[in-house]
Amino acid sequence: MLERIATHARDLLAANDSEVYLVDASGERLRAIVALGAYAAEIKATTLRLGEGIVGSVALTGEAEMVNDAARDPRSIKIPATPDESESILCTPLRFKNRLQGVMTVVRTAGQAGFRPADLEFFKALAGQAAIAIENARLYAAEHDRASELARTLEQQRELDRLKNEFIQNISHELRTPLASLKALVETLRDGALDDPPAAQRFLDRVEDEVDVMAQIVQELLDLSRTESGQAPLQLKSTAVADFIVPPAQRLQPQAERARLTLNIELPGDLPPVLADCERLSQVVTNLVHNAIKFTPAGGTITVSAFANPDEVTVFVRDTGIGIPADDLPRIFERFYKADRARSGGGTGLGLAIARHVIQAHGGRIWAESVEGSGSTFWFTLPTASAALATS
Ligand SMILES: Nc1ncnc2c1ncn2[C@@H]1O[C@H](COP(=O)(O)OP(=O)(O)OP(=O)(O)O)[C@@H](O)[C@H]1O
Ligand SMILES: [Mg+2]
Repeated sequence: MLERIATHARDLLAANDSEVYLVDASGERLRAIVALGAYAAEIKATTLRLGEGIVGSVALTGEAEMVNDAARDPRSIKIPATPDESESILCTPLRFKNRLQGVMTVVRTAGQAGFRPADLEFFKALAGQAAIAIENARLYAAEHDRASELARTLEQQRELDRLKNEFIQNISHELRTPLASLKALVETLRDGALDDPPAAQRFLDRVEDEVDVMAQIVQELLDLSRTESGQAPLQLKSTAVADFIVPPAQRLQPQAERARLTLNIELPGDLPPVLADCERLSQVVTNLVHNAIKFTPAGGTITVSAFANPDEVTVFVRDTGIGIPADDLPRIFERFYKADRARSGGGTGLGLAIARHVIQAHGGRIWAESVEGSGSTFWFTLPTASAALATS
């Protein structure tokens, strides 16, 4: 459009060249986006400061000018690689609602007659059209940006909706399983098992187990949502590593023994303290050890240990269990992800998602290594108290 107006101006004013310069984003420089003459490439490669040359000067004063014999004008500057010949120039600012958009010129090269005042008036009228064209292009570009922005937001919103739906489906599924067994247990009790006290006792124990499973799911959901929404800020204190490893591991010792597993705690005595929320980390260790117990067949060994690196302590929980298929390994930290639903028994698949949140909130990393059939090791790192304090 601008090129059409410039061509029109050049032809109607019997000129050799016409140029349109626009103010760049900084508001301080002019760059030619249209140049129709022999040296178009050179002109387009040059930027002018406001005030520089006749073009820059018109941009600054806002007054259209007619300069016949421009070479003698003291403001004249030479564009590199263009010939040094005298020319006649009409030059007018382009403005929309008092906002400077740029400058338009027409040029007659040496040997042609100079312009007349009527030419300048006509040129100013053309410049008004150019200004409207520039404003329209700007509005269109802004509208286009806004539309793409909206499309992006909408896409993100859809993805969030999808995740939320998936999440709700998973929760419903996980709650339905213990509910179905509760229903069956209660029916069995009502249908006569109550009259057989030893059987009734067994059924009540199962009822209690199922209620525990549901309570744990609800507790984990609450933990996860509190951690993810940042509602449960960490209570960070300089903490001995043993404080969040020994008590949870000892608490699980009876469960390990029932499963005929050896549970070893091997902590070096000289570990530096870490900056930690002891309760949240105990929860992480509990889940890792509990997983190791669930996924290790009788006779196996579970080791909980830690070592110090410069600036961080690495904790690991190793088992000699069933391991995790390589395909599942990258996904086990996702909410509700279970490597093998058939084998994974009572669990919601939230434990590792929570663990990852807690460790990352501490500025640490968590990951797993596993060989299917021979065991898994879960690692996490925590900054030492001195390193954490030095960077905060
Ligand atoms: N030590 C392990 N050995 C083998 N597989 C494991 C081990 N730890 C975790 N997994 C796999 O990763 C999955 C996710 O573990 P996560 O702790 O998140 O969930 P869960 O133990 O199934 O349920 P929850 O912890 O919520 O009760 C498990 O279901 C299991 O498939
Ligand atoms: Mg778990």
